[in-house]
Amino acid sequence: MILEKLRGVRVSGLGKSLPQKVLTNKDLENMVNTSDQWITTRTGIKERRITAIDESSSTLALRAAREALQKAGIKPEHLDLIIVATTTPDMLFPSTACLVQAGLGAQKAAAFDLEAACSGFIYASAVGSQFVATGMFEYVLVVGVDTLSKFVDWEDRSTCVLFGDAAAAAVLEPAPCGQGFLSFVLGADGSGCDYLKMPAGGSLLPPSHETVAAKLHTIKMKGNEVFRFAVKAMAEAALESLTCAGLRVDELDLLIPHQANYRIIESVRKRIGVLSEKVFVNLEKYGNTSAASVPLALSEAVEEGYIREGSKVVLTAFGAGFTWAACTIRW
Ligand SMILES: CC(C)(COP(=O)(O)OP(=O)(O)OC[C@H]1O[C@@H](n2cnc3c(N)ncnc32)[C@H](O)[C@@H]1OP(=O)(O)O)[C@@H](O)C(=O)NCCC(=O)NCCS
Repeated sequence: MILEKLRGVRVSGLGKSLPQKVLTNKDLENMVNTSDQWITTRTGIKERRITAIDESSSTLALRAAREALQKAGIKPEHLDLIIVATTTPDMLFPSTACLVQAGLGAQKAAAFDLEAACSGFIYASAVGSQFVATGMFEYVLVVGVDTLSKFVDWEDRSTCVLFGDAAAAAVLEPAPCGQGFLSFVLGADGSGCDYLKMPAGGSLLPPSHETVAAKLHTIKMKGNEVFRFAVKAMAEAALESLTCAGLRVDELDLLIPHQANYRIIESVRKRIGVLSEKVFVNLEKYGNTSAASVPLALSEAVEEGYIREGSKVVLTAFGAGFTWAACTIRW
């Protein structure tokens, strides 16, 4: 296709979905050798949501998608594409995006999953917005969802206190140039793959009695290395995204970082040189919800009035891979 001019792309509706069950730090004190005090001071997390046995990533994704469509005023049959960013799909195949497509009844929509761990929502927004910008599609649904509670080793105190389950979704549609997404920065460094992974369940180590006995279907993480990487990657990506958008740091209205650890967010904030009141944090309620973290925070920031028309917002994230991503939006 020959393109004369790319269109602007904006978020026209956001939705979120949270499991009902709340797991507090006090609850965790009864499960592993930890304390509310340790978790709060080391991470900032107070509680997280846990999916019920009959819930999965697609059930959360579907609820968030319905709310986003309703807020955007779009019917499922108008959707051209559904991208689900997740590392915890319902199953290896078919994709969770296909399950969401069927659940919504979005007959015309193409659908696929995208896996970039906690950076997934920004990656998926970058991919989805290309289709809208080029004019190939009008309406793209992007969902960030993870149910990491299903893959946590509940005897490993160094990881089980960190994660929670959630989904959040956004509808992307055409906008006048200069509105909506102004820039995207995406990156990866696969040499970091051993620092954060779930080793078994794929083609390298298919499920077997041995892999289950060795707990290789749960999250393995070297927290300190991930921490250091996260601070550098998120800060640099956010700054690059602002520069690409032609904005200075002091023009930024709100920074929405991936909600993994309050100390990581604070270090990123200082590196970027942004005031505390311009940083949105909700991780005390949800923990690290992986691909849902950034859109969940974005959705709450809009609901709570931190973002208004014209606000300049930066989203920044990092995750397993390693991956990182940032984008700048004029709301
Ligand atoms: C995991 C993390 C909170 C650990 O914090 P930390 O300050 O680095 O703590 P350390 O790993 O150095 O551990 C310090 C001590 O606390 C202990 N500890 C670990 N988890 C604990 C818990 N839940 N409760 C109590 N003690 C704990 C460790 O065993 C260690 O004890 P030791 O000194 O006797 O060996 C931190 O490294 C982190 O947030 N990393 C990034 C993780 C992340 O964001 N992952 C997702 C990426 S998307």
